[in-house]
Amino acid sequence: MAVSGAAGSTASVRGGRWQPQQPPPPSSSPSGHGGASLLGAAALLAALLACLLPACAHAGPGAYVAAANYSALHCEGFEPTYPQIDADLAVHRALGTHLNATQYIAGYLGSVQMRGLTVGFFGGVAYLLTPTDFPGLSHHAKLHAMYIRQLLHVQDTFGPDLPDVAFVLTTSDTPRYCSTRLLNASSPQPYNFSAADCHHTGGFVPGPYPVMGIGKSDWWPDLLLVPNFHFHMKLYDNTSLALVEQFAQVPWAQRKPILFGRFSKYRMNRCPDDVSTAKWGLGGKRICYNGGKTCPTREYFIRKMPEKDPTRIDVSFRAKVPMLRHSEYKYLVNLEGQGISSRLEQLLPMSSAVFKEASGYYAYYYRTLLKHRVNIIEFWRKVPEEVMEELDWAAAHDPQVARIAQAGVALARTYLTGPGRTCYWYRLLHGLAGTLAYEPDLSQWPAAVPLRQVLEEQMPASPQGREAYEQPWAP
Ligand SMILES: *[C@@H]1O[C@H](CO)[C@@H](O)[C@H](O)[C@H]1NC(C)=O
Ligand SMILES: *[C@@H]1O[C@H](CO)[C@@H](O)[C@H](O)[C@H]1NC(C)=O
Ligand SMILES: *[C@@H]1O[C@H](CO)[C@@H](O)[C@H](O)[C@H]1NC(C)=O
Ligand SMILES: *[C@@H]1O[C@H](CO)[C@@H](O)[C@H](O)[C@H]1NC(C)=O
Ligand SMILES: *[C@@H]1O[C@H](CO)[C@@H](O)[C@H](O)[C@H]1NC(C)=O
Repeated sequence: MAVSGAAGSTASVRGGRWQPQQPPPPSSSPSGHGGASLLGAAALLAALLACLLPACAHAGPGAYVAAANYSALHCEGFEPTYPQIDADLAVHRALGTHLNATQYIAGYLGSVQMRGLTVGFFGGVAYLLTPTDFPGLSHHAKLHAMYIRQLLHVQDTFGPDLPDVAFVLTTSDTPRYCSTRLLNASSPQPYNFSAADCHHTGGFVPGPYPVMGIGKSDWWPDLLLVPNFHFHMKLYDNTSLALVEQFAQVPWAQRKPILFGRFSKYRMNRCPDDVSTAKWGLGGKRICYNGGKTCPTREYFIRKMPEKDPTRIDVSFRAKVPMLRHSEYKYLVNLEGQGISSRLEQLLPMSSAVFKEASGYYAYYYRTLLKHRVNIIEFWRKVPEEVMEELDWAAAHDPQVARIAQAGVALARTYLTGPGRTCYWYRLLHGLAGTLAYEPDLSQWPAAVPLRQVLEEQMPASPQGREAYEQPWAP
């Protein structure tokens, strides 16, 4: 396992950027002399062969298995979720994660307006690497508090087994930086920014960037997906997952065959060049505006679809109803918000079949775990009327839809748990460490402060920070 499927092991060897954890074997240090490349290749081959032995687990990026809590948390049981880490790191492996790109994106996204937090781990300790401003973050201060606590939880859980690594953690709904598809470390310079529709200013350094976020589309292949802050904020395991039996009390046969949902008003943001998030209305009508940057898919669905069949579709922005009452319906609809909607995690445990809008945006577990007509029912790949076809199909396949509902519950209970998410973080950090094209060192971040100190001293020092500090949190 340390060889196959291990984020940051074989694939990074293939990319020629394999970096051993300390101490580095002398043959892998960059030498720049022609003769060294053969030696380097031999060393890589030796490392690859050595990795077939169990001892490899204690050296190199596969070192993640050495942590006592890796087995205590049953991290190997969440293996089906880790291929997303490999997918997100593919560009990093191909082009390398450079220090100048890390520092550039820290300056660009790591500001309060951009909702970013520049953080890292050095010697098993979590650090805030550049200063932040909790009052300036406004409502995002609470979201940052969730991640600060989670990173400290990762520190407490894995400590010395964590690799040294620096990254920017964002809480914006969709990525907000120039796509590596337009400009990247192998694009010819100088860049024509107006042709690329990128709004960066002077000193631009192209990606890939070590940026983490809750959702993305294929337009940002380098963005590293992480579990949503809402899991922590909503105490997901103690609320949604703990209530599975209660949600299951209404028998399937008694649930109404109606597609149900209550929503807050959000409009989808997208990049006009991103074909993967393009959306059309009924009959292929254009619904996006603002140069294709805004698509009101939620509003459109709620305004247009109930009139197609009011006996089968009950969706609205009015009158929120408690989660428990959602279990009166066989079909629950998930409509995307500005990007992905974390409502999905709350719907999966309800023992109802979840109808999910296919938006092109995805969260860390969508691509690996969600399967159409297996544990969710997907619609609006192109047009919203697909929902009528799926409702017809559901009516004709009731026992199968009941199984889809149960598969959704099983997915949430098996994989979307606190340990599953903590293990994902840990594997991601090891994977990212394996792509670094530089030797990470705390001295590269002269303003670094231990994250524990940020949480316990800096955050409570302002009224806004204190409010964020006092929010309930669970791993
Ligand atoms: C395992 O993780 C828990 C917190 O999640 C921590 O308290 C404990 O010290 C860790 N054990 C080891 C051996 O690191
Ligand atoms: C890098 O940029 C070029 C355009 O300059 C593009 O063709 C290529 O697909 C990009 N590579 C990645 C991995 O996004
Ligand atoms: C840069 O791109 C814009 C828009 O495509 C184009 O009008 C302009 O001529 C380009 N400039 C150069 C120097 O290539
Ligand atoms: C960033 O650093 C890499 C080496 O790590 C170098 O090749 C590249 O030219 C640098 N890019 C810029 C824009 O400074
Ligand atoms: C969640 O539930 C566990 C087990 O019942 C309990 O120990 C823990 O304190 C709860 N956490 C929160 C934040 O309520």
